[in-house]
Amino acid sequence: MNYIGSKNKLIPFIMDNVQEVVGSNLSRLTFCDLFAGTGIVGRNFKTLVQKVISNDLEYYSYVLNRNYIGNHLPIPQESDLLKELNNILPLEGFIYKNYCSGDKTDRQYFSDLNGKKIDAIRVQIETWKNKGQIDESTYFFLLASLLESADKVANTASVYGAYLKKIKKSAQKEMVLLPANFQLNGNEHQVFNEDSNNLITHIEGDILYLDPPYNARQYGANYHLLNTIALYDDFTPKGKTGLREYTKSDYCSKVKVVEAFEELIEKSRFRYIFLSYNNEGLMPQKQIEGVMQKYGHYELASKGYQRFKADKTENRNHKFDSTTEYLHILEKKF
Ligand SMILES: C[S@@+](CC[C@H](N)C(=O)[O-])C[C@H]1O[C@@H](n2cnc3c(N)ncnc32)[C@H](O)[C@@H]1O
Repeated sequence: MNYIGSKNKLIPFIMDNVQEVVGSNLSRLTFCDLFAGTGIVGRNFKTLVQKVISNDLEYYSYVLNRNYIGNHLPIPQESDLLKELNNILPLEGFIYKNYCSGDKTDRQYFSDLNGKKIDAIRVQIETWKNKGQIDESTYFFLLASLLESADKVANTASVYGAYLKKIKKSAQKEMVLLPANFQLNGNEHQVFNEDSNNLITHIEGDILYLDPPYNARQYGANYHLLNTIALYDDFTPKGKTGLREYTKSDYCSKVKVVEAFEELIEKSRFRYIFLSYNNEGLMPQKQIEGVMQKYGHYELASKGYQRFKADKTENRNHKFDSTTEYLHILEKKF
């Protein structure tokens, strides 16, 4: 999924730095991805470490990570389930009624057919779960598959803060439910859906990877429709874009971010801390350095980077610009 702040393209940079600092053999270590988003960082460490702890404030991200990180054994009858869901009869449900142009709203986040398919598939997954016909791992595998597949046919330029007036080409295609494949792995991992500063007091490990938002744009607002599909609860969508209530993160607030960040570093019980942040973030590099230096040995690595940029006017597959990504590294002294 194209995601604001995704580290997909920076994985080699992050892994090289982690292994240079911590050592190449990570097999007995616990790696925590505290602001996991799409889960791509944790996914790359999953087979290298003993345990991944993955967390994000947003429920859609929890669903993705509960699948990509939490799931580690094969899904029973995976292809039969996907086949049945792909052949399901469309249903005029919550998504169709509130986020497609065919019914009472002008909103056009999905074509009418795709909206109805999303509804039908979402309802069926919940029915299977309630009847005990699928286990928890399968439930999250199917939900993650639905989120990824729906995102591919969303009629947006980038994020879900706005929809396009005309249905664009990729959104005209009928949605196909594709499997959200995850790495099979012998180890158990842990996935949470909490505020970072709350969770940090309950966990410990070796490597803490931090990738908080770096500007004021709240993920809960930008990806509200993914939460709505994932939660599939009943609420009154607000305004032109059909926004739902969302949790605001301290990391998106100029006033609160430094205090939250320092609290996180202070409370964390991990020896190695790696923070990704870019040069346009709410916290300037020197301020981050000032905080981290207080708690141990600090170093900085940086890399020029072509970043995915959310934009309302262009096609979301083709928007990149240049920025500098920093990796702030702390070996914490206890
Ligand atoms: C820059 S993105 C992470 C991207 C991720 N590394 C990836 O490659 O997909 C920041 C993430 O932090 C999450 N987030 C924001 N505030 C948070 C908080 N207080 N606690 C936990 N997660 C938070 C957002 O939901 C978002 O997914």
